[in-house]
Amino acid sequence: MSAQIIDGKAIAATIRGEITAEVEAMKAQYDKVPGLATVLVGERRDSQTYVRMKKKACAEVGITSFGHDLPEDISQEELLTVVRDLNANPEVNGILVQLPLPDHIDDEEVLGAIDLEKDVDGFHPINIGRLSMKRRDPLFVPCTPKGCIELLDRSGIQIEGKRAVVLGRSNIVGLPVAMLLLHRNATLTICHSRTQDLPGVVREADILIAAVGRAEMVRGDWVKPGVSVIDVGINAVDDPTRERGYRLVGDVAFDEVKEVAAAITPVPGGVGPMTIAMLLRNTTDSAKHTLGME
Ligand SMILES: NC(=O)c1ccc[n+]([C@@H]2O[C@H](COP(=O)([O-])OP(=O)(O)OC[C@H]3O[C@@H](n4cnc5c(N)ncnc54)[C@H](OP(=O)(O)O)[C@@H]3O)[C@@H](O)[C@H]2O)c1
Repeated sequence: MSAQIIDGKAIAATIRGEITAEVEAMKAQYDKVPGLATVLVGERRDSQTYVRMKKKACAEVGITSFGHDLPEDISQEELLTVVRDLNANPEVNGILVQLPLPDHIDDEEVLGAIDLEKDVDGFHPINIGRLSMKRRDPLFVPCTPKGCIELLDRSGIQIEGKRAVVLGRSNIVGLPVAMLLLHRNATLTICHSRTQDLPGVVREADILIAAVGRAEMVRGDWVKPGVSVIDVGINAVDDPTRERGYRLVGDVAFDEVKEVAAAITPVPGGVGPMTIAMLLRNTTDSAKHTLGME
């Protein structure tokens, strides 16, 4: 039997609708709307695209965005000054520094300079530290991991007590999503490039989160029947039949795994739209917190 396809695009659209209503209520009650500052350093095409998509999504739900496009050779001190000015700007409820930053920039110092109350990407060391500890709720949870949990919740997939396997341990996806699953009482295994017998470990999963960046690595015979799969991977593979010469695939061989799984996200149209929806969620929550709306 073929799996339930978890439609991230539709779920993200529902969330954006909820946020639009909240922003309208804020405008009506306080004559204010949330503000998101995006900080883009250099001219990486992928980063430019992500920032453009984030600004467009803000506009659609009524969030004001403040774009700061900075030159590749900006100094550490100049970049820190931009962040500190945004910290002081009351119109700005969230600050997003698009990663990766150029090599000469110390990204830990830059992310650590963001006001905790405006850390809508959730990468401030204190927010990550709180995420890693029991009963220390972070002010903000990183957007992609938060989106993965939201997809499970809104699809009615139980987390508590289940065997969860996370493929990947990066700071931005694998590690934080693992912490979230643990806090939700999953029994957790984290895999990485040194894990032995990866298919054997993956086969134990009731919930599988794949975030490795390897095209279609997880095959149909790696998974247990009835598994729920969240595929975070975005990989470009050559495809001469497409006008642009490539197509995007996940870390999971979708066509094979969907025949075994109970539920699975597609790529594209799964986790991707949720990442942006969660950024809008965090920015709106930050504004509501500032206005005392909770
Ligand atoms: N949908 C979205 O919004 C979104 C957001 C962020 C990222 N992504 C995508 O998610 C994927 C992962 O991103 P990332 O930033 O977490 O990547 P990353 O920083 O490169 O981390 C990859 C992780 O996978 C592990 N890994 C690599 N090859 C492996 C293998 N053959 N077997 C087992 N583990 C392996 C690495 O292990 P080690 O730690 O041992 O090196 C590492 O922990 C990428 O495709 C990225 O484009 C999507």
